[in-house]
Amino acid sequence: MSTEFIKALDSGVQIKIRPMQWEDIEQVYQLEKRIFVAPWSRASFEAELLNRYSYNLVATNENVVIGYAIIWMFVDELHIANLAVKDSWRGCGIATWIMNVIFNIAHENHIKIMHLEVRKSNEAAINLYKKFGFEIVGYRKNYYEKEKEDAILMSTCINDTVL
Ligand SMILES: CC(C)(COP(=O)(O)OP(=O)(O)OC[C@H]1O[C@@H](n2cnc3c(N)ncnc32)[C@H](O)[C@@H]1OP(=O)(O)O)[C@@H](O)C(=O)NCCC(=O)NCCS
Repeated sequence: MSTEFIKALDSGVQIKIRPMQWEDIEQVYQLEKRIFVAPWSRASFEAELLNRYSYNLVATNENVVIGYAIIWMFVDELHIANLAVKDSWRGCGIATWIMNVIFNIAHENHIKIMHLEVRKSNEAAINLYKKFGFEIVGYRKNYYEKEKEDAILMSTCINDTVL
């Protein structure tokens, strides 16, 4: 995906969503460490930039990374592997916009079904995904070892596919 998406928030602040680049990794990794109890390593993000099945997005404001997403696509399935927004930018619709871009990519690539895992107690993320039509389809016991928490599996069908 070479396209850049630019949006002005209600406040007039401009946000850009574009493919993640090598120069973004340090900022993404620093955010990841601040946000997650069991963060991905820097090497994991680097590996995603080399992974032909991976699409990696950043949301930026004035060239500063304020959100990111890692998605994997195999044939007609898309998996949201990572998605986060910097705490000081939450509640402004950044994740909603990232999700809109992900759906855009999914449509362009004829994806039929999208999956993700989310911590059972992560109300904000679960609400976000439900807003985009994701439904709970299962659980993985103790999936998050460090947090000692189960994962909820969520899926949604797109392009007129039936779940
Ligand atoms: C989950 C997360 C990505 C949401 O990002 P955001 O930019 O604040 O989300 P948005 O402002 O676009 O909100 C979209 C929807 O998410 C839900 N939501 C967001 N924050 C919420 C909160 N604190 N409590 C409940 N629901 C919330 C709401 O349904 C909201 O829609 P609404 O505004 O119409 O009510 C962000 O909280 C985050 O980065 N959390 C830490 C990382 C994480 O948990 N990632 C998901 C891993 S699966």
